[in-house]
Amino acid sequence: MATWSAPGKVFLFGEHAVVYGKMGIAMAIRPRVFVTVRDTKRPSRAKSPYIDSCFEAMGVIGSVYINSQIPSSSGLGSSAAVTVATLAAINDEFNLNKTREDIAAMAFEIEKTVQKGRASPTDTTVSTYGGIVLITGGSRRRLPPQNMHLVVGDSLVSHSTSRMVEQVADLKKRHPEIVDPVLDAIQGVSMSAIHQLSNPRELGRYMNMNNSLLEVLGVGHPQLAKMILASRQAGAFGAKITGAGGGGSMVALCPKQLKHRVAKAIESCDGRAIVTAIDTEGVRKEKNV
Ligand code: PMV
Repeated sequence: MATWSAPGKVFLFGEHAVVYGKMGIAMAIRPRVFVTVRDTKRPSRAKSPYIDSCFEAMGVIGSVYINSQIPSSSGLGSSAAVTVATLAAINDEFNLNKTREDIAAMAFEIEKTVQKGRASPTDTTVSTYGGIVLITGGSRRRLPPQNMHLVVGDSLVSHSTSRMVEQVADLKKRHPEIVDPVLDAIQGVSMSAIHQLSNPRELGRYMNMNNSLLEVLGVGHPQLAKMILASRQAGAFGAKITGAGGGGSMVALCPKQLKHRVAKAIESCDGRAIVTAIDTEGVRKEKNV
């Protein structure tokens, strides 16, 4: 029996733009998904295309038990975390000698296939390596970890990442004269933000700018807008949609002493608040329970 866990993530900057080869900056956060795999003659496991694909890719069969602290469909990368932790647990249980690099690559292929081609390697990379990761096209670079005080607000409005990606693609086709400069502007925000990662006041301003640009792309939602405004009013340095939008989650960067006030403000807008921080570790082995 082998138990591995992997963290969720938030996009700090560049969601949607990253689909068009621009820069994306994402950070691994607590909570985690815990996956236990057991080599058994009679395998039992939850029905999930991600888990089925993990066993197929590894060429073995076994049982799986999942304990997820990440709400699914909330834009916090739960499917990537499940995929990464499952691959790592299978690798360990069946002694398959895959490297972290292999696991990240396999997890991305699985996400891409299950999501019918609409996935950037962001979620799977961040979940595998932890910390803050800069993704551009096919390349990735780890940025120095920062101790940010974040509050995630789950709107509890379900959304589909692939539908939102498609919606932006349609808008881009109909209005390249508007959408292309907006994608360039998002890239501009990300490039400036890289140099201010340790300056939360400035970083918050960039998050606000990024959010306005996402609104132009049409991926906002009234519930997200309410939580974003309430967070800023409660003293957050900045707040934005995180992930695909149209529902899902927002994230606020806060002064340490105000994070609980911001969480309360989010909950008073009927969202679910998660006070969180960076997870620098990525996928890791847990003691078997
Ligand atoms: O909703 P999430 O967390 O899966 O994020 C989607 C981010 C997009 O840039 C819209 C798509 C992607 O695969 O990067």
